[in-house]
Amino acid sequence: MRPGDELGGSTGGNRSLAGSLRTEATPALVVDRDVLIANVVAMAERARSAGVALWPHAKTHKTAQIAALQREHGAAGITVATLAEAEYFAAEGFDDILLAYPPVGDWRLARLTDLARRARVRVVLDDAGVLAGLIEACRAVGAVIGYLWEVDCGTGRLGTAPGEPTATAIAAAPRGPECPFQGLMTFGGHAYAAADDAELDRAAEDERNALAASAEALRGAGIDCPVRSAGTTPTAHRMRTGTDPTITEMRPGNYVFYDATQVALGLIEPPGCALTVLATVIGRPDRRRVILDAGSKALSAERLTPRAAGFGLVLGHPELTVERLYEQHAIAGAPHGSDLQVGDRVRIVPNHACTTANLHRRALVAENDDVVDIWRIAAAGPGG
Ligand SMILES: Cc1ncc(COP(=O)(O)O)c(C=O)c1O
Repeated sequence: MRPGDELGGSTGGNRSLAGSLRTEATPALVVDRDVLIANVVAMAERARSAGVALWPHAKTHKTAQIAALQREHGAAGITVATLAEAEYFAAEGFDDILLAYPPVGDWRLARLTDLARRARVRVVLDDAGVLAGLIEACRAVGAVIGYLWEVDCGTGRLGTAPGEPTATAIAAAPRGPECPFQGLMTFGGHAYAAADDAELDRAAEDERNALAASAEALRGAGIDCPVRSAGTTPTAHRMRTGTDPTITEMRPGNYVFYDATQVALGLIEPPGCALTVLATVIGRPDRRRVILDAGSKALSAERLTPRAAGFGLVLGHPELTVERLYEQHAIAGAPHGSDLQVGDRVRIVPNHACTTANLHRRALVAENDDVVDIWRIAAAGPGG
């Protein structure tokens, strides 16, 4: 039986169990517990065999129960993108937090320095003025917050150019005992644009080379660089086994769930995806169209790679392509027809698990089609 097959049948049969994917309201976010645990364990093993510390990016799930699993399996701490995420996880007892986002704005500085009373926080930045603001804010309240400097390895988001430009910027940046320089961070997000495996390999090499060249230039300037943090889910899959002297930490996030993008990139097969959106067929206007109740308010509308067809994978229904999303409707095309009937339920692996989870307030935790728990998705929203 393939995942999703168990939901077949035109009305879901005559079972009416409370806590069943056959009866829960749709659309609903579903986490397959066994697959999730397998993903957490496998990435922990990757980090161990590469000899790097695992700092998983928790923006993917924003869920204390999943972060607890990651910690149980060896995560040294967690990475977050927003202060709301950092505050939520600190309140849940996670006290080693990397905020991989520059602390720009008085409101961010106020909340960050306040957070530093409750957790060991490091922050990422790439600008001397931002660092000066952080030092001043820490000095005012007696906080200590270390920082990683971001190097751009080719993504073209934040970060200074690798090598000498980065070392020069760090050497010229203000200093203060309140904000010790702890090392470098890079983000190989361009891996998602890889057209093939060779380009994906190159993105992982870009991360490694950017860190190596910058650490080398810093050494030349007499600056020690103990932390060298890299990683996305695709590049984490390219981490070398055996101790890698270039990288000391990695920060994959998406891997807890994986998604249709990672399937398209060749990292995982659909059964390895732990996150799905449970949807109901609400219309069959013709042979070639299946209308589902999971639109862009339930499934992320992103197309992170042109290698993914449509807006998600309908498990157990390879005949379908999710071609269009309205807010509350998905239009799935079936060029050769489909047996699905109005009332049937399906599970859709979204293109982007992280932004899909961010659309929901809770996740049904499933074993097969039994709901065994419900987890809150905390700190969901645009940021802040
Ligand atoms: C700074 C940073 N590190 C790590 C990650 C995790 O990457 P992925 O979602 O591919 O696991 C992200 C994702 O956006 C990120 O922005």
